[in-house]
Amino acid sequence: MKRILITGALGQIGTELTAYLRKQYGKDNVIASSRRKRGDESFFETGPFEILDVNDAQGIADICKKYKINQIIHLAAILSAKAEENPQQAYNINMNGTYNVLEVAREAGIAVFTPSSIAAFGAGTPADNTPQDTIQRPNTMYGVTKVAGELLCDYYYLKYGVDTRGVRFPGIISYETLPGGGTTDYAVHIFYEALKNKKYSCFIKAGTFMDMMYMPDALKAIHDLMEANPEKLKHRNAFNVTAMSFEPEMLAAEIRKHIPGFEMSYDVDPVRQSIADSWPNSLDDSCAREEWGWCPKYDLSSMTADMLQKLAEKLKIKQ
Ligand code: SER
Repeated sequence: MKRILITGALGQIGTELTAYLRKQYGKDNVIASSRRKRGDESFFETGPFEILDVNDAQGIADICKKYKINQIIHLAAILSAKAEENPQQAYNINMNGTYNVLEVAREAGIAVFTPSSIAAFGAGTPADNTPQDTIQRPNTMYGVTKVAGELLCDYYYLKYGVDTRGVRFPGIISYETLPGGGTTDYAVHIFYEALKNKKYSCFIKAGTFMDMMYMPDALKAIHDLMEANPEKLKHRNAFNVTAMSFEPEMLAAEIRKHIPGFEMSYDVDPVRQSIADSWPNSLDDSCAREEWGWCPKYDLSSMTADMLQKLAEKLKIKQ
């Protein structure tokens, strides 16, 4: 029986993953955790929740023991743009958090999922159709911690046999919970502004391609990789996964098909732009497809249609 602990469960991915996994494995088998309580109160009525700071290794171990956890999905992390505001804090949470989770997993025989990111690439990485195994020289604190996390997860598998698995997520687009300070966040904010004001001022320059994915595909990626037959996995951590690659004008044009008067202007943020410039334009995710059957459902057009419909319902805006 699966007994899952999710760290960072109140974040953009965590809130939806908690609900998704509770449906699959039963609500009491999925323990949500976060540094502090925030957001919608109704979340805390959907199943067990624990306050947990991933810098507290003993706290992680205690919760794992209390609930007989056999899988940790370690989502707690500071995203790219926010990490550049306070790199020391980002190092502490991203690096020590991952180390603590792996140590507890090693001692208690727990499987671990850790997301890496397109941020694990950087200068020197081939930008188009970026291979699974290639140059990784990121120049952001977030990227540095993600590469180190990938390597640590591989190390714990090879050295100690910990069942570590992970993907490199692109920008995740969703309507339940806002992302917390990433470079790809424009692709979420644009939908809110399009529905509310029919215009959006974009902080990323026209022509900047990045990989993206709609939340239902991201949830499925986590679930499917953790359920995959380990004998088929040649890689374990840091699988490239993507669903679409676009630049801001392409997204705006797609939104305009549904909201004809939608206008986009630009007020480029140099920090986030330089981060975006250091990331790939599009990933090659063929290893994930071959080794565990990765196959996204949503492309730019189906994601945009669904996102506008669901977000309009949520915001109670008539389209
Ligand atoms: N969406 C993330 C970010 O922009 C990428 O991993 O930081």
